Amino acid sequence: MKILGIETSCDDTGAAIFDSEKGILSQRLHTQLDLREKYGGVVPELSSRDHIRRLAPLVNDVLNESNCGTEDLHGVAYTAGPGLMGALLVGSMFARSLAFAWQKPSVAVHHLEAHVLAVMLEEKKPQFPFLTLLVSGGHTMLLRADDIGSYQLLGESLDDAAGEAFDKTARLMGLDYPGGARIAEFALQGNAMSYHFPRPMVDRPGLDFSFSGLKTYAHNTWQTSKQDHEARCDISHAFQEAIVDTLVIKCRRALEKTKLKQLVIAGGVAANQRLRERLAEMVEKFDAELFYPKPSLCTDNGAMVAYAGYRRFLLGQSDPLTAPIQPRWPL
Ligand code: KG4
Ligand code: ZN
Repeated sequence: MKILGIETSCDDTGAAIFDSEKGILSQRLHTQLDLREKYGGVVPELSSRDHIRRLAPLVNDVLNESNCGTEDLHGVAYTAGPGLMGALLVGSMFARSLAFAWQKPSVAVHHLEAHVLAVMLEEKKPQFPFLTLLVSGGHTMLLRADDIGSYQLLGESLDDAAGEAFDKTARLMGLDYPGGARIAEFALQGNAMSYHFPRPMVDRPGLDFSFSGLKTYAHNTWQTSKQDHEARCDISHAFQEAIVDTLVIKCRRALEKTKLKQLVIAGGVAANQRLRERLAEMVEKFDAELFYPKPSLCTDNGAMVAYAGYRRFLLGQSDPLTAPIQPRWPL
């Protein structure tokens, strides 16, 4: 079964073709970095217009590269939420128009389910049930994944997502997007003895997170520092350690609580090398296993949407061409 996947939940335009026999046949991504840099963040209206410009060429490219005729496709999967209303509208309209023209079924994919399932595109994959730490620019949550479409929320951020805290702290220190990746680079040169940042909410029971206080702590530390390269590296180091430590503590607690033996990390922040190393050490002590997608499948992409759509089609599901998009859509 070959599926075309289309992702437009925020400011990444992604297209990919997944084949159930051969895996990902082709994928393309356009990240609106130029727009982000120019306006200091995502401007929803501009992002939507950019998706309009990018979608047709990207889809053409993936069809050509995979040598896929439209007759070879089983159907079209698209992100229907959560995300920016305009961006979702553009992607879903485009995807459903193709499905209509090609007389193929279409399926509305939940962006977070696509992130959770991205790991299934790797050789080393988990079996249900498993624990997932989903950490992206928009979400920080711990989930128990029992099956396709069956997820239980165990804890989430009460304020900023981890990626958002990375991005805002990076911007404060004059670093560009993606902030998490920039902070990770600068952290490599940081002196571990210079600063120690708090680990938010670890002394409270439960599996919720809070990162906005940490962001304020970084702000105050930066304001009173020399604001030079050394300060940037040292603060990046202390900030990354605090976020990673907090995530590791909560994952450990969730493994203890659920008794699950597999931990999956997903979303853009799961690309973080330090987080991967620290979680790998932690799961070993629990006789558990860690699973993660390659970095390009952690951040937003069309392949994870094609795969999530495939799993839905496999269950005999599809959606009518009139299916609504859902900017707010609990998993
Ligand atoms: O999953 P994603 O592409 O978009 C959302 O659905 O939100 O995640 C983007 C987030 C950004 O906040 C970015 O700073 C973060 O992922 N990120 C990282 C790294 N690469 C991207 N955070 C930490 N370390 C990285 N290497
Ligand atoms: Zn995402």
